[in-house]
Parts: sequence; C-alpha cells; structure tokens
Amino acid sequence: MDELVGIILAAGEGVRMKSRVPKVLHRLCGKELLKYPVELFRNVGVHRIVVVVSRSNQNAVKGLLGDSVEYAVQSGKTGTAGAVESAASILRGNSQNVLVIGGDSPLVSEDSLKNLIGAHIKDARQMSILSGMIHGSSGLGRIRRDQNPQQSVLGIVEAIDDSDRSDESLEVNSGAYCFQSDWLWNNLNRVEPGNESERYLTSLAAIAAEQGVGVAALTSSEPAEVLGVNNRVELANLEDIKRQRIREHWMLEGVTITDPASVMIDTDVTIGQDTVVLPNTMLIGNTSIGSNCEIGPGSTLMDSTVGNECRVTSSVIENAIMEDGVDIGPFSHLRHGAYLENNVHIGNYVEVKETRFAAGAVMGHFGYIGDAAIGARVNVGAGTVTCNYDGKEKHRTVVEEDVFVGCDTMLVAPVTIGANATTGAGAVVTKDVPSARLAVGVPAKIIQR
Ligand code: UD1
Ligand code: CA
Repeated sequence: MDELVGIILAAGEGVRMKSRVPKVLHRLCGKELLKYPVELFRNVGVHRIVVVVSRSNQNAVKGLLGDSVEYAVQSGKTGTAGAVESAASILRGNSQNVLVIGGDSPLVSEDSLKNLIGAHIKDARQMSILSGMIHGSSGLGRIRRDQNPQQSVLGIVEAIDDSDRSDESLEVNSGAYCFQSDWLWNNLNRVEPGNESERYLTSLAAIAAEQGVGVAALTSSEPAEVLGVNNRVELANLEDIKRQRIREHWMLEGVTITDPASVMIDTDVTIGQDTVVLPNTMLIGNTSIGSNCEIGPGSTLMDSTVGNECRVTSSVIENAIMEDGVDIGPFSHLRHGAYLENNVHIGNYVEVKETRFAAGAVMGHFGYIGDAAIGARVNVGAGTVTCNYDGKEKHRTVVEEDVFVGCDTMLVAPVTIGANATTGAGAVVTKDVPSARLAVGVPAKIIQR
C-alpha cells in the first residue's frame, strides 16, 4: 500500500476561459497548466497519480501526459466531489492518504505541499487544507473558523454562496488537500448537491468538523500560491507572478538581468552563471544557455541550446544549437537544425536552416544557408545563397574546410565545393568544384590556380 497517492482534477468545462482549448492545456510561462501539479506531485514523492478528465477533454489531456499518469473519466456535472469520486475505483484501498489538487492551480509550491503532508501525517488528521490570506473579494472558497482559541476549521464557504462581500483580508482555499484515504472514500457520498447541482468537495470540511474528526487548514506564507486560473485575466495575472519568480530565481543564481520587466523566461529554461540578459529578450520553451554569455538586447531564443561565452544580439534563434564562443547578430535568424560549432561567427542579416557550421567558420554579412554543411574555417562572403530548392525538392550543399566563398556566390544544390577551393564574386556554381580550384563566372567555370 502506498503512503500517498495523488488525484488531479481536470474534468471541469473551463467555460470562463471562453476557449476551444481545454483550460488545463493553456500555458503558463511556456508550460501547460496541468503539468505543474503533475510535476509537483512527483517532486513530493507521489508515484501513483490519477488525473480526472471529462469525456470531451480526455483525448487532449492524454495527448499531453501520455502514460505518465493514470486516468479516471468523470461523467456529468457532478462537481469537484464527483470528480474525486470517479477516481475511487482506481485508488480506494490502495493508500493511506490521498492528495487532491485542481489542475488549474499552478503556483502551489513543493515546500507548502510538504508542510501540509507532514502536518497531516504527524497530527493523524482526516482532512488538511492548504489555505492562504488574500486581500479583497475573490472567487475562491473561504475558510470558516471557530472563534475558540484553537480557531478550529468549521467549513469552507464557496464565494457564490457567501453574502460577505467585504474587502478585508480573507483566508481562502487553494484547492490542495490531503485526506486520510478511508475517511475520504467513506464520506464522499455524504456531500449533497449545491449550486447548479454540483457537489462541492469543499463540503467535506464541514462534514469533518461536525463529526469532530481532525480537519485543519495550513496557511501558506506565500499568499499568491493559492490563486487559480479560471479566466484569461487570472491566467495573465498568474503568468506575471510566475515570471517575476523565475527572473528572481535566475538573478539569485548569478545571472544579470538589466531590465527584468522586459525579459520573459519560460519555466523550463536554464541559464549559466555570469550570463547577462539584456532588455527585450525572450527565452522560450526548452532553452538552455551556458555561462558568461550576453543575450540580447532584443533576442528571442526558442527550444535552443547555447554554450558558454556566446553572444546573441538582436537575433532570433529557434530549434538551434550553438557551441562555445559563438556570436551572432544583430538581426540574424537561426532556424531548425542550425548547428554552430565552437567559435563560429555569424554577423547581420543571415538566415541559417538545417546546416552545420564547423568550428571557426565565418559568415559576417547577409545571406541564406539552408540544407548545407559548412567546413571548418570557411569564410562565406556577403550575399552568399544556397539555392537549395528547385521548386519540387530540397538539395544539399557541402562546402569543405578552408574554402573561401566569394561575395554573392550562388551555390546551386546539389553541389560540393572541395577543401581549400575559392569561388569568385558573383559566381553561380552549378557543378562540383574540386579541391583547391577556383570557380568563376555564370555559370561558374573551374580554373586551375
Ligand atoms: C475550487 C474550490 C474553491 C477553491 C478553488 C481553488 C470547489 C467547490 N471549490 O473552486 O473552494 O478556492 O477551487 O482554485 O471545489 N473540476 C472537475 N470536475 C468538476 C468540476 C471541476 O474535475 O465537475 C476540476 C476543474 O477542472 C478544476 C478544479 O476541479 O481544475 C477546480 O474546479 P473549478 O470549477 O475551477 O473550481 P473553483 O470555482 O475554482
Ligand atoms: Ca478554479
């Protein structure tokens, strides 16, 4: 029997998002909302996770999480209590305690959840609730406490059922709970339908209080973590909070960010020490950046890997890899499959796609290199273009090491330029050039040097 299993509620309709995309698949700082509680549960050591889905969103959710979790399908509008109930057939009798969280609560921290679990087990409670103090009215459920010295929890009142509209500080429910398993499975059927016939999981707090069994709310020291996403205003608000946290994390890890408010860093990005991130820069998706780099101003890096001592100035880097000591920009574009080995220099107005530049290769000025291999120490002159597409198919260009490609060379693929060869300015190269020869003219003729 597991000590702890987890249930993530993701079967709600999410109508307030006004979206064709299920709410839990909307992204926060580059990652789908639902992945946050899955990773949170894994990080606190939960092995078995059941995600409660609906008939309409099950395919999308399974597409996102695959076999990494188990699934229960909730049918009908039976509310959060009904959602938990639909996981009973999978989990009942299999664990001592059950964690429950909404799929729309991405800010709950590992520390808070660990504290909740620790106190729940230590005090042998039936129900423990993670709560937080927030200011002003909100749609979150409100914790009701007794006036006795222990301030015992009496129940949770949902915002729509609460007449108190005051602006004072409220203790609200994060939607993250730890339950003693047998108590949960034996009491869920006591939850009566509330508003619009939905059965509230939160009614269990009052049921526990009336039975005189242990129910407690643990108040988080970080109020923002109790917030959830119900509409796109809340999504943007949480994104703002999370982005600020991410930037502070990297600054405390030794990254300089000169104008934090203008920098976006997604949640799975990593950045090495003494790297400087200049204004108006976006680091997106699975991007990793080494140490001692200068990124920005005005650069976007998406799903890319950058080594140490690199510079990316006002450029866009997508699905590309840069080894160490590489510099690029301003105004250049690496697309999918661009791979720049050590000390490659790319200047301005260069587009590179599906091409490996070997160590020390240089392309200082405008041009397009696609579906190619550029050898070590090659100098690619201004205006060089790989004519890789004949209208039907893409073809490869190979430029071997130490070649000098003259300005405005058209490399009509498929074509190979042998090591140490040279092309003259304006050459249109339609046939392979042997090593150490010179190719000039239109179409290019091969000349012995
Ligand atoms: C819920 C809590 C509220 C708490 C807030 C925290 C209830 C009744 N209220 O309110 O006290 O402050 O979360 O964010 O639980 N879901 C299902 N099946 C359903 C209904 C909902 O799986 O039938 C899922 C949703 O997909 C969502 C989560 O449960 O991920 C919470 O549902 P939601 O409707 O967003 O509840 P809140 O109104 O936010
Ligand atoms: Ca919610």
